[in-house]
Amino acid sequence: MKRKLRMGMVGGGKDAFIGAVHRIAAFMDGKIELVCGAFSIDPEVSRQSAEELFVAPNRVYANYEEMIAKESQLPEGDRMDFLTIVTPNFLHFGPAKMALENGFDVVVEKPMTVTLDEAKELKATVEKTGRTLCLTHTYSGYPMVKQAKAMVKDGHFGKIRKIVVEYPQGWLSRLSEREGNAGAAWRADPKKSGLSLVMGDIGTHVAHLAEYVSGLKITELCADLSTLVEGRVLDDDGSVLLRFDNGAKGVLMASQISAGEENAVRIRIYGEKGGLEWANEDPNNLIIKMLDQPRQLYRTGNAYTTPYALSSFATHNTRIPAGHPEGLLEAFANIYRNFAATTSAKREGRTPTPEELDFPTVDDGVRGMAFVQNVVTSNASNEKWIKFEE
Ligand code: NAI
Repeated sequence: MKRKLRMGMVGGGKDAFIGAVHRIAAFMDGKIELVCGAFSIDPEVSRQSAEELFVAPNRVYANYEEMIAKESQLPEGDRMDFLTIVTPNFLHFGPAKMALENGFDVVVEKPMTVTLDEAKELKATVEKTGRTLCLTHTYSGYPMVKQAKAMVKDGHFGKIRKIVVEYPQGWLSRLSEREGNAGAAWRADPKKSGLSLVMGDIGTHVAHLAEYVSGLKITELCADLSTLVEGRVLDDDGSVLLRFDNGAKGVLMASQISAGEENAVRIRIYGEKGGLEWANEDPNNLIIKMLDQPRQLYRTGNAYTTPYALSSFATHNTRIPAGHPEGLLEAFANIYRNFAATTSAKREGRTPTPEELDFPTVDDGVRGMAFVQNVVTSNASNEKWIKFEE
């Protein structure tokens, strides 16, 4: 591509959280520019946000329908190339489907939709249109997560037997949705959030991490969901036992009432010969624990030759020399960079490399929505185990 990719945005105004993170991530490599948006539910906030972001006033739209309709009428040399969707969950499906059907690629936040049926419809739309959909499961963008995946895939730990993933947060320990916290208010509303608060909001992240790093698929689960803050409508805490397609067993914990916790995402995987541990709050470290050996610490950005080199997937997603911290913004930027490289390759008629294709897609979105649906079904059932239906 001889030019930057042009991004449009739904949501992500001055009144939002994650939209600004998307812009930092998208701009980090200088290959993407923001050209248009419907940035807020409030038109004045949208206008002000656009002004601060130097978006031309004639490219600020009243809503996503108007934006997609008008952008698709612009000449190829002007119109947006892809749409980033950073609205509350119930407003992902509509803009994603319409954008794909009008020839635009899509970056969409998780959970991809609010129902499994919508997720499957988006997958069918991606297949029909041939467009690319990128789902921003942030934690899979870290170099040391990619290193963990590569070492599992290469058989370093032998056959995988046990997978433990956790996502404890404390920010919903109070009834924040009734105390003027807009982000908590829509998350706690079943019509805007979906069937489950905790599993849609953060459970999908760690379910994805478990399948991404292990390369395995969840086949059965047994779930227990709770609402531990009085007055809340949806669940805020959940524990799930997992069975994987190679016979491995797992445990997934997602909780938003773990008072005092920040974003303590952690994954541990154990095989016949050893195991690994990675944590979001210490993301440049990958701890390797082999049977009868001292513990090893793998660090981002090193040119190790022994006992195991950093994989091409880890190095492709590392930006600076060892010792300089890289974090969530860079992990997010890795997802954008790989998405941008893949869509640019398709435009140029080039086959993207495996490293460029390494970002979550519509298939991960369908798995995520199936996970939420199956967890809710299991929680309501007296059966001990239910099959993971997709
Ligand atoms: P937020 O409540 O802070 O922001 C939502 C934004 O959408 C606001 O700008 C709001 O005005 C806008 N909006 C609402 N309705 C709109 C409409 N009809 N048209 C245009 N804009 C509209 O929400 P937050 O925390 O930024 O979350 C947004 C999405 O991102 C959610 O799906 C959430 O699950 C996901 N998320 C993902 C994270 C990750 O780690 N990947 C982290 C945080 C959120």
